Amino acid sequence: MSQSNLILKAENLKQHYQVKQGLFKPDAVVKAVDGVSFTLEKGKTLAVVGESGCGKSTLGRMLTMIETPTEGRLACEGEDLLTLTKAAQQTLRQKIQIIFQNPYGSLNPRKKIGDILEEPLVINTPLNKAERKRKALAMMEKVGLKTEHYDRYPHMFSGGQRQRIAIARGLMLDPQVIVADEPVSALDVSVQAQVLNLMMDLQNEFGLSYVFISHDLSVVEHIADDVMVMYLGKVVEQGSAKQLFETPRHPYTQALLSSTPQLSPEKRRKRIKLEGELPSPLNPPSGCAFHGRCQFANERCKQETPVLRREESGQLIACHGVEEGRVEALVAGAA
Ligand SMILES: Nc1ncnc2c1ncn2[C@@H]1O[C@H](COP(=O)(O)OP(=O)(O)OP(=O)(O)O)[C@@H](O)[C@H]1O
Ligand SMILES: [Mg+2]
Repeated sequence: MSQSNLILKAENLKQHYQVKQGLFKPDAVVKAVDGVSFTLEKGKTLAVVGESGCGKSTLGRMLTMIETPTEGRLACEGEDLLTLTKAAQQTLRQKIQIIFQNPYGSLNPRKKIGDILEEPLVINTPLNKAERKRKALAMMEKVGLKTEHYDRYPHMFSGGQRQRIAIARGLMLDPQVIVADEPVSALDVSVQAQVLNLMMDLQNEFGLSYVFISHDLSVVEHIADDVMVMYLGKVVEQGSAKQLFETPRHPYTQALLSSTPQLSPEKRRKRIKLEGELPSPLNPPSGCAFHGRCQFANERCKQETPVLRREESGQLIACHGVEEGRVEALVAGAA
């Protein structure tokens, strides 16, 4: 049964934050994530993309149980993560690790690489010092770090090497899922490709599943199997990477794609400018949250919130214009 390949299942996940507005104003609610669902299979990569503030990191914190969702369900290999006892949660938590964007901030500057890598083993395993060291050295090799650097401190490494250390640490407890929150965004473009290649090699070797968070669609093109595009806490389009990159349907996905540079002329697209500011999540627009920036928007879009619908192609799209045939396809090759 294909069910057995399912590693992570999220259903209608929500994270609503209460925020203080001042002494005499009532609290406001930020719907940072507002009903996200997906499934992730073993060895696959789901990319989560969207502009700053759309809820990507909040989703990542829920998936790794750093934060408890306001609502929704989350299951890892069929086990409901949110209703487990604390002890059972602790065990399952090891299976889902997170890697952050900033390899400077996330590595303790006063600790040597060896200690940074072994720390999760000290806390979570009965391995002794020698066994921990053996495992750390093996992992350093796997991520392309020299084992003689075991006693070095983080500041002695380049940004790319530091991200390799962060990846190695994330793998020390043999996780099945890695949530990578903008893992290459702080790196030079030339180094980005190296780290992405390393992540793909490690995925093949260990059968890892990735939730890969990025504001940049071009970064995920080669690594993603599925893509989820978010706008102000909601998913606007979701489908296979092939579908999304070849036939993006939602006007927001089209705009994001047309703003990413394409080298080959046959892939170059009509440029759609993303106009206007991202609205405040404290006061989101009525109807479709994207309507103020959408060239296809009409009266219905201003009033009625579109829901995710499955298209014949299998893509999920939340757009009245697509449903009614008002949105033009994005033409590849047009300048
Ligand atoms: N603890 C919190 N309390 C209140 N609001 C929050 C909290 N954490 C996040 N938010 C708000 O939730 C929204 C989503 O934030 P989030 O950090 O998840 O976005 P993001 O997509 O990761 O953005 P970026 O690309 O900048 O990292 C933002 O409006 C943010 O201000
Ligand atoms: Mg973020």
